[in-house]
Amino acid sequence: MGLDLDYTDGQTPLDEDEKEGLLIPTITTRGDLDEFEQLGVEKANEWLLGRSISIEKILSEDFVKDLHRRMFSGIWRWAGEFRRSEKNIGVDPVMIPIQLRNLLDDCKYWIDNRVFDEDEIAVRLSHRMVLIHPFANGNGRHSRLMADVLIKKGFGKPYFTWGSVNLTKQGEARDKYLASLKAADQQDYKPLIEFARL
Ligand SMILES: Nc1ncnc2c1ncn2[C@@H]1O[C@H](COP(=O)(O)OP(=O)(O)OP(=O)(O)O)[C@@H](O)[C@H]1O
Ligand SMILES: [Mg+2]
Repeated sequence: MGLDLDYTDGQTPLDEDEKEGLLIPTITTRGDLDEFEQLGVEKANEWLLGRSISIEKILSEDFVKDLHRRMFSGIWRWAGEFRRSEKNIGVDPVMIPIQLRNLLDDCKYWIDNRVFDEDEIAVRLSHRMVLIHPFANGNGRHSRLMADVLIKKGFGKPYFTWGSVNLTKQGEARDKYLASLKAADQQDYKPLIEFARL
């Protein structure tokens, strides 16, 4: 049977190897997959509840991977592992560790030197993370949760709202989110910062 997925705008297609990493064989459609992945994201959110995590820990490669693993470990064999294939978005896979290192170092610099306010730092982290695209799938959700963890656990501010809807579904909010990301691609972060608190 296998997994037969359709892709909405801005989603990263999986290659055949990655599809074989599916750990739940009864999942065959996008709808099934979305539901299981949503449960995984909720599990990661539960794990975060009430837990204190230092900024230093959040901004480490181990934590970046661990968060992805906690979101998707029951579903994808490669959860928490960097991708090995090229994607239509993201850096060459061999560059992921170094690019991530640069991003995490930049983020520490922004914090230490108060280069931007706290919301902007977390949103920039999220956008640069999704541009690197460290994983085969789940980068959008993971990058937003990274920003949430930094803002809440790192800075003690409320979680972002990210449009207050499920962004994996097609619709007005997702279009707005993608348009904001594209503005951020051009160094205009204002729309994404606003969207994150909408
Ligand atoms: N032009 C762009 N610039 C920056 N990021 C982008 C752009 N287009 C798409 N993205 C990001 O890539 C994500 C899609 O990657 P991926 O499929 O790995 O994430 P996902 O969590 O599975 O999907 P999604 O959040 O889209 O449901 C989008 O959610 C968005 O965050
Ligand atoms: Mg996806």
